[in-house]
Amino acid sequence: MRSHYCGALGTANIDETVTLCGWVDRRRDHGGVIFLDMRDRQGIVQVVFDPDTEEHFQLADRVRSEYVLKVTGRVRARDEAAINPAMATGEIEVLGKELEILNTAVTPPFQLDEYTAVGEEVRLQFRYMDLRRHEMQNRLIMRSKITTAARDFLDAEGFLDIETPILTRATPEGARDYLVPSRTHPGQFFALPQSPQLFKQLLMVSGFDRYYQIAKCFRDEDLRADRQPEFTQIDIEAAFLDERQIMAITERMIRELFKAVLDVDLPEFSHISHAEAMERYGSDKPDLRIPLELVSVDDLMQQVDFKVFRGPADDPKGRVAALKVTGGATISRKEIDGYTKYVSIYGARGLAWIKVNDIDAGLEGLQSPILKFMPDEVVARMMQRLDAASGDIIFFGADQARVVNEALGALRTKVAEDLGMIGEGWSPLWVVDFPMFEDDGSGQWTPLHHPFTAPSCSAEELTANPGEALSRAYDMVLNGCELGGGSIRIHCRDMQEAVFRILGIDEAEAEEKFGFLLKALQCGAPPHGGLAFGLDRLVMLMTGAHSIRDVIAFPKTQSAACVMTDAPGDVSATQLRELNIRLRQTREEAAQDE
Ligand code: AMO
Ligand code: AMP
Repeated sequence: MRSHYCGALGTANIDETVTLCGWVDRRRDHGGVIFLDMRDRQGIVQVVFDPDTEEHFQLADRVRSEYVLKVTGRVRARDEAAINPAMATGEIEVLGKELEILNTAVTPPFQLDEYTAVGEEVRLQFRYMDLRRHEMQNRLIMRSKITTAARDFLDAEGFLDIETPILTRATPEGARDYLVPSRTHPGQFFALPQSPQLFKQLLMVSGFDRYYQIAKCFRDEDLRADRQPEFTQIDIEAAFLDERQIMAITERMIRELFKAVLDVDLPEFSHISHAEAMERYGSDKPDLRIPLELVSVDDLMQQVDFKVFRGPADDPKGRVAALKVTGGATISRKEIDGYTKYVSIYGARGLAWIKVNDIDAGLEGLQSPILKFMPDEVVARMMQRLDAASGDIIFFGADQARVVNEALGALRTKVAEDLGMIGEGWSPLWVVDFPMFEDDGSGQWTPLHHPFTAPSCSAEELTANPGEALSRAYDMVLNGCELGGGSIRIHCRDMQEAVFRILGIDEAEAEEKFGFLLKALQCGAPPHGGLAFGLDRLVMLMTGAHSIRDVIAFPKTQSAACVMTDAPGDVSATQLRELNIRLRQTREEAAQDE
């Protein structure tokens, strides 16, 4: 129907007769002349109807916001005074000759340019309207460009796009499963994949060598700005490549995506060990654009009587760390109270601080509620270690190392945001040398990645000392966001069984849940490994969006629901009977219980 997109018109089209199809963004009546801003996915152009074209002028007078139109007219240059530099098509306009109303529209649930006022819930309820906004259109257009560029890259590198099942058995990635009841197997359930992990490994056993898939993954977990219950991975696996080679290929892919889509040359990727990331940034996904670091002061705090600090300093699992914020002495008491509350989210029981008003004045120049608990000499050595200067503030965390890292790691980012200390640009890195396992608090080991990750030691060493073992895993981090993660996998049955044993999965359970994998590992499994990128997170970063919800056409809300289709929803008694399911509570009863 159309000859051009509205947003694609420019001075090159002057004097051409064009046919446009799109929506009415705005209609203005200027003393006998009607201006229609017409919108399509490329942008907006101004169409003018004057009374000379009587019949069409009458029609133009009747159109309202969001009507769908087909307009034919001539492109002409705007008068000097009417040029709108804020508009991509602002140098031209279309003099309308013919107009056809393809469809009318009721008054929109919200004015598109007033979307912020209506809140996200309304935007999601009328998502098809929200997606008409230029910003949202651009994000989804960029998403499509990114997946195309990824496919082109992987295709050129010899990776094959192979689909894996959605109705499957549980693939453990650390979240809860979404389950689907089976009608043909009463009482039994499929799990939706948390990732294609096991299938992609089996494809390596089959000899496909290099696999990729833009794969939907499902995880029933607590949602945040960078987490959705249903999300997409660029999932990659290869045989006969070691970690260095897999990291090199995937790094090159990200580099080429940034070049192709944003014309950005990413800087060198630094490599840092998990231990160093925790020590210096309190996080396994540090934002290196932030010029702040955690510094351990356990040894100094072993010399103080202040129990809050002394306890963790003496405890091998404890940590006392300082976060010096350059120029932070301007932070008010009220703001410190705010930060104390903030770190309490992460389990911190307090937030000690020292303001350095005048470093040359010694103790007199310091201001703090904890100085009285510390020998002068300890304070002096601490100031030296932190290289403190007048105008700084130093925050302290003392607790189990896990709590201190989480709390000060998050505070580092929060303070940097508040004080505008986050540098410009892109800061990519690899985090490597992860521990194989972590203690879940009850003395049970859980995998830091997934249970199919290869350790960098022998099965004997692993079994003898699970807490010390490192894995052959790697995460790619960009601007404080975990963009992707992967590892070299276990490709021998003995090693896989050893890991299951350490995780408390006995032989019977291993056979029941992963028998197919264990058998496959005995059938000539090649050494292999891979990685998966979170596509939504990648698009979020590349488009500058603040939430992955803004780069997914139809995302779920924070409570994992779709307010547009009203899913999840009730099902009929017949359907339940077919599935052999009896509800313990109806929706109404459950609501009453809450
Ligand atoms: P992992 O669990 O680290 O690894 O996931 C890989 C990447 O997927 C993204 N991601 C998410 N994005 C949005 N919402 C979520 N709920 C969500 N969860 C994860 C992250 C993450 O880095 N099978 C392994 C990969 C492998 O070992 O090859 C896996 O799924 O960006
Ligand atoms: P208190 O003696 O409990 O009033 O604490 C003195 C200072 O230490 C206050 O500024 C507290 O916020 C801080 N504080 C208390 N517990 C901790 C902790 N676990 N880590 C860091 N600071 C703490």
